[in-house]
Amino acid sequence: MTDYYAAAALKKAPTVRAMFDGVAEKYDLFNAVLSLGLDSLWRRCALRALFADLPEGRVLDLGCGSGDLAGALSGRREVLGLDFSGAMLRRARAKFPAPSWAQADALRLPLRAGALAGAMTAFMVRNLADVPLCFREVFRALRPGGRFVILEFSLPRGWLMRRLFLAYLHTAFPLACLLLRGDQGAYEYLRKSIRSFAATVDLVRLLQEAGFIAVHARPLLGGGVVLYEAVKPGA
Ligand SMILES: C[S@@+](CC[C@H](N)C(=O)[O-])C[C@H]1O[C@@H](n2cnc3c(N)ncnc32)[C@H](O)[C@@H]1O
Repeated sequence: MTDYYAAAALKKAPTVRAMFDGVAEKYDLFNAVLSLGLDSLWRRCALRALFADLPEGRVLDLGCGSGDLAGALSGRREVLGLDFSGAMLRRARAKFPAPSWAQADALRLPLRAGALAGAMTAFMVRNLADVPLCFREVFRALRPGGRFVILEFSLPRGWLMRRLFLAYLHTAFPLACLLLRGDQGAYEYLRKSIRSFAATVDLVRLLQEAGFIAVHARPLLGGGVVLYEAVKPGA
């Protein structure tokens, strides 16, 4: 079994990209099973938060994976789905022809300053080698008044919820892998990255340091998932 987690600590971007390329085919199935179908509910919450007071213009889905968030947006706005995994983007294109799709790194956005009305990202941030750099890039690409919405796993604050959440991570991930014949190394990476990221990174502070205002963090699933909202000042 590949220890992607240890490898990612040394050479994060290429290792993480190779891992997501490897899981792309079964990604949607694992998502639905491991989240017990709640992933679509979380995405709906993210879209509602994005559209609260969103200026006119284009929206970015950063780390779009197999495209569900960008696909849900198309028809309402001009959408760009961006990911560095070619295999994930191929799945996204096959599912949703309408949005534009681009293969690029979230740490170097191929967008001019002020090009976007909004940006959202679901379950990508904890995979980044440099979260502050990504936030500065999103800040640059947004127009004044533009909104940034993030969904990311976290650790519930309450003792009982935290115990239940950790027990779920430890049992459901390997079990789902076994039953669905997934790459155990990849799902071990996902499990470890959720735990270590939540314990060490304060996304509210990093958003504020990048220049965002009106930064809010709303716990979902008792705090196992958090929805962050932030605004670029100066509208
Ligand atoms: C856990 S998946 C989430 C996919 C999708 N947003 C969702 O909610 O299902 C994380 C995605 O982020 C992408 N990703 C991770 N780091 C990235 C980076 N530095 N630049 C672009 N995409 C990245 C991965 O390729 C993967 O498709």
